[in-house]
Amino acid sequence: MRLVLLGPPGAGKGTLAGLLKDQLGLAHISTGDILREEMKNNTPLGREAKQYIENGELVPDEVVTKLIDHKMTGGGMAGDGYMLDGFPRTEQQAQDLDRILEKLKKPIEHAIYLDSSLPVIIQRLTGRRICRNCSALYHIQNKPPKKPGVCDTCGGEVYQRSDDNEETIKTRMDVYMANTKPIISYYEAQGKLQKLDADKDAKDLQEILMKTIAR
Ligand code: AP5
Repeated sequence: MRLVLLGPPGAGKGTLAGLLKDQLGLAHISTGDILREEMKNNTPLGREAKQYIENGELVPDEVVTKLIDHKMTGGGMAGDGYMLDGFPRTEQQAQDLDRILEKLKKPIEHAIYLDSSLPVIIQRLTGRRICRNCSALYHIQNKPPKKPGVCDTCGGEVYQRSDDNEETIKTRMDVYMANTKPIISYYEAQGKLQKLDADKDAKDLQEILMKTIAR
């Protein structure tokens, strides 16, 4: 199975990818996670990305596309299946991705558009918490860790992302509407788009998605 997950910040791309990874054993490639790891390790790329991420802006296309090319082409992916989460985010990225995947003979089968409403997005993002060590996702209301501030899975510190504040969320939404929403029609034109109501509970969404792609 070869999927891209599209949708606004907080639509639940990472959450759904986590569930599908367990169910289908696909490689989960999240540009947001890769960039945060680079920031954590204070690499030159991490230092470059930090200024964009903290302002809610997009990291330049050539930087993220190179990352994805390296990840997909340079091996390290068990099997043929993948789920891309947070990439592509611009039409240029979508076109470059198609070129990379064409060379690899691993074209996208389904582009899953998680459509979520603004109040739900804001509730999810302002309440999200994340493990600094293993990136496990939590939410202060929807999915709190058993012990506050401590990851259930690895015991790591659970923190709030610096871009999950109301002001940066607003910028991220504006950036999404201007740059990423238009690529929905790019995949629609290819006959690959599946739109799902992402305000639903994550497990229900997983079930609906499995039925949709089995058709
Ligand atoms: P990235 O990390 O990709 O952020 P994003 O797209 O804004 O998406 P999020 O991670 O915020 O949300 P999500 O949809 O994964 O939601 P989640 O599952 O976590 O990117 C961050 C930054 O990196 C960008 O702003 C940009 O600067 C840069 N970047 C990354 N990729 C780039 C690219 N390709 N080009 C240029 N720049 C790039 O869920 C959120 C919360 O809600 C969680 O707490 C979860 O528990 C809860 N939740 C989720 N789903 C449900 C549900 N169904 N029911 C109840 N609760 C739910």
